[in-house]
Amino acid sequence: MSLFEEVANLGRASAEEVTSAATAEAVEALRVRYLGRRGLLRNLFDRVRDLPQEDRREAGRVLNELKAVISAALEERLGLLAPKLRQEVLAVDLSYPGRRPRSGRLHPLTQTMEEIVATFGRLGFSLAHGPDVELTYYNFDALNTPPDHISRSPTDNFYITDDVVLRSQTSPVQVRTMEKQPPPVQVISVGRCYRPDTVDATHCFMFHQVEGLMVDENVTFADLKGVLTLFYQEYLGPDVRVRFLPHFFPFTEPSGEVHMSCVFCRGSGCSVCGRTGWLEGGGCGMVDPNVLAAVGYDAERYTGFAFGLGIERMAMLRHGINDIRLFFENDVRFLEQF
Ligand code: DAH
Repeated sequence: MSLFEEVANLGRASAEEVTSAATAEAVEALRVRYLGRRGLLRNLFDRVRDLPQEDRREAGRVLNELKAVISAALEERLGLLAPKLRQEVLAVDLSYPGRRPRSGRLHPLTQTMEEIVATFGRLGFSLAHGPDVELTYYNFDALNTPPDHISRSPTDNFYITDDVVLRSQTSPVQVRTMEKQPPPVQVISVGRCYRPDTVDATHCFMFHQVEGLMVDENVTFADLKGVLTLFYQEYLGPDVRVRFLPHFFPFTEPSGEVHMSCVFCRGSGCSVCGRTGWLEGGGCGMVDPNVLAAVGYDAERYTGFAFGLGIERMAMLRHGINDIRLFFENDVRFLEQF
């Protein structure tokens, strides 16, 4: 195709494209495409040099003419679009109410944990931390759990290696804390725990616990009862009653299970509490002397209590949530209610 034919084709194509440009942006894009520094016309101008001498002048003339035609067409098109643009701008009614941005919030479990930390804080407990990926030494051995104990079973734990496990409880933080400081100790720790439980309305492979530990001279079970009773009454309401049942944990002696009166039936018995009037809160007890000795504390001089409570359960009781999975599904219709 000769240069002259190409100029004629480009003239037709550009006229068509410019008339169908619907927005100011589209017009600008066409300007770049045809008249830009690397545009279609530039390319043709560059090829004028290769024509025979006698054709060059004429080629330059038609090209300049095309350039002027396209420029004018673009200008005109923009002019036609302008009233429409102006109309669009005017269609914005400034008296309309704005669109309210959706604000985020803390996850209900985070809110629960912050409240628990604050409540124990008022009772004099400070906050301690430990890793989720834990040594079996801290998760079991230092907690007086023998090598053949049922709780170490591979079907009940997420082992990473023989010596490393996703912690199955927050109790290892007790040991890590005592290793770092001499008595007295008065800490809580909140965080995630992991167990390969089948997921259902009350179980998940990941959940949260609050761990408490107080060690000093003359700490007794009465202190444990006082602290947990105050905590539950503060968190669930002043008429909540608390009871302690004998239990077993390797790291406490004696060990107990703490129960609170059912928050739904106030103790008279309903389907939530299995007609007993009581709800299970968690485990607790007096720190086993072996645990104190493992961190180098003088177990003759110091005593302590410890407890571990499930956080999901507490939040579920407090807010009347009947399925633990709701916490982890990230459904905003649930989350935005808190
Ligand atoms: N770690 C125990 C569990 O997950 C709960 C527990 C029981 C924690 C007794 C304690 C305790 O601190 O003293 O089942």
